[in-house]
Amino acid sequence: TDRYCVFGNPISHSKSPMIHAAFAEQTGEDIDYTAIEAPLDDFAGAWRRFTAAGGRGANVTVPFKEQAFSLCDTLSERARRAGAVNTLLLGADGRSHGDTTDGVGLVRDLEHHGVSLAGARILVLGAGGAVRGVLEPLLAAGPASLLVANRTAAKAEALAVDFADLGEIRGGGFDVVSGPFDVVINGTSASLGGELPPLPDDLFGTGATAYDMMYGAEPTVFLSWAAKRGACTVDGLGMLVEQAAESFFQWRGKRPLTEPVRESLRRTL
Ligand code: ATR
Repeated sequence: TDRYCVFGNPISHSKSPMIHAAFAEQTGEDIDYTAIEAPLDDFAGAWRRFTAAGGRGANVTVPFKEQAFSLCDTLSERARRAGAVNTLLLGADGRSHGDTTDGVGLVRDLEHHGVSLAGARILVLGAGGAVRGVLEPLLAAGPASLLVANRTAAKAEALAVDFADLGEIRGGGFDVVSGPFDVVINGTSASLGGELPPLPDDLFGTGATAYDMMYGAEPTVFLSWAAKRGACTVDGLGMLVEQAAESFFQWRGKRPLTEPVRESLRRTL
């Protein structure tokens, strides 16, 4: 049995053990996947102890994605761009390799919902770590344009500069937002506090999709607001499952089916 885990703090509510147990059963892979609360000031030590005890790989969640990035001996190009690591792999040589699967998880989930990104006008709300982690795959999907809008405009402007070589990307404050857009992705943590960024009423084009990287039993305030304005709405539960599937693939070389896992996870909310 090969050991994997998810590191976070707090971690007790993580859905990852359930998701990976389902993937392992489906693919016949003999793995053990647990949730581990790492100390806030010593992520590297937690990873070292885990690998010394036979751990082969791990997922990394809040607040350790940047610490995980820092400890890696090698990084995938997408992790380097993201400045964050959500997937650790222990190489045969004992070196730690870091990858991030969040962005590809978002893009696959949008595809799963039939949302096409090629040629689309995309608006991304927020400019924190969550947004930085998804920009490379979004730009790789070939949108007509991508606007990053953030409460602190300078952070969005800086992101646009960092990713300018990958496609048509601009950044600014919420005041520069003017629709219509085909896809609007909420990557702010505003929904946690039940808040909504100040947005114009004419944000959505015909057939537009509103996506929230958060999810829960009830729609987020952003998705409720978007539904009232005619957008199709999708929450981030599928992104969670898709990023897990990509991590599983990096570790085991097998791609699990995500549909049955989405459904069982939805029922647990
Ligand atoms: P994460 O890792 O989730 O991205 P983060 O790096 O702290 O966390 O970023 C949080 C994001 O949510 C930021 O874009 C933040 O805006 P600022 O950069 O201006 O702080 C945004 N955010 C948080 N609360 C918000 C609110 N009430 N309204 C609008 N944006 C908010």
